[in-house]
Amino acid sequence: MELEGRHVLVTGASRGIGASIAEAMAARGARITVVARSGDALAEVAARTGAVAITADLTDPEVLEGLLARVEAEAGPVDVLVNNAGVDSTGSLTAMTPDQVRRTIDLNLTAPVELTRRVIPGMVERGGGHIVNVSSLAGYGCLPGIGVYSATKSGLTHFTAALRAELRGLPVRTTVVEVGIVQPTDMAASGLAYPPFRDAWNRLKRLGIMRDVRLEQLTRAVVRAVERDRRHVRLPRRAFTLSALPEASRRTTEWLLTGVAPRVPPG
Ligand SMILES: NC(=O)c1ccc[n+]([C@@H]2O[C@H](COP(=O)([O-])OP(=O)(O)OC[C@H]3O[C@@H](n4cnc5c(N)ncnc54)[C@H](OP(=O)(O)O)[C@@H]3O)[C@@H](O)[C@H]2O)c1
Repeated sequence: MELEGRHVLVTGASRGIGASIAEAMAARGARITVVARSGDALAEVAARTGAVAITADLTDPEVLEGLLARVEAEAGPVDVLVNNAGVDSTGSLTAMTPDQVRRTIDLNLTAPVELTRRVIPGMVERGGGHIVNVSSLAGYGCLPGIGVYSATKSGLTHFTAALRAELRGLPVRTTVVEVGIVQPTDMAASGLAYPPFRDAWNRLKRLGIMRDVRLEQLTRAVVRAVERDRRHVRLPRRAFTLSALPEASRRTTEWLLTGVAPRVPPG
């Protein structure tokens, strides 16, 4: 999809990957709406990108329910939805509070599913749209200290694959982003502060399977994926085989279902 003049909604855009995607898409001529909880940081991103800033906690079910209508009332129909907001909650599972568990699942999985569910009918009606779900290599790799996070990312990756099957024949594209540690970000710093996770990550790096991904590299790849209708962003490239293995069974199902009309009228 050509980004010039399109309206892009980016969640979790007050810093890190979301802010970087918002800036890169604004540079391609898109109109941007940014969402996060921190009003001041969001206002700075909005000032740099000309974006509309909406302060919202996506773990609040009432806020989530009204968010898309609020965005579209302020800034018009959404052409590209970037479900980026996320939290890692790295640490020992037994040290997590019930609230941390709930918020991790609500933000990383429930919020993107809900926003996707709500944005699709309008995209179909207008004849086009693109949904980017920012998942993680944690969705296929098993590292200590990120069990709940991994479950949400695995869920988001698989959800996106199933969504493609549901959207077959409709003019809405999807991209799932499966990325390892991205530097510099607050989330990378928070994950690597937990020794079991850091040791596991460093082992994968020593084995040559992983390397840190630069923020600009990821951002460029996401923009390109939307512009060229690519279903996957996988970084670092050297981890391709690891992510391709679980993807193989998804693709096999998709191939086996070729010719089966999957289309359910949206709305
Ligand atoms: N960084 C990495 O190494 C890495 C690797 C793989 C995947 N990812 C994924 O990439 C995405 C972005 O990560 P990041 O590194 O940019 O993280 P980050 O720097 O911690 O930023 C997270 C963003 O989400 C927002 N957010 C957090 N809680 C929220 C809530 N309850 N409601 C609304 N917004 C909320 C934050 O803003 P406020 O605090 O202002 O709300 C912030 O804008 C996440 O989905 C993450 O899982 C990151």
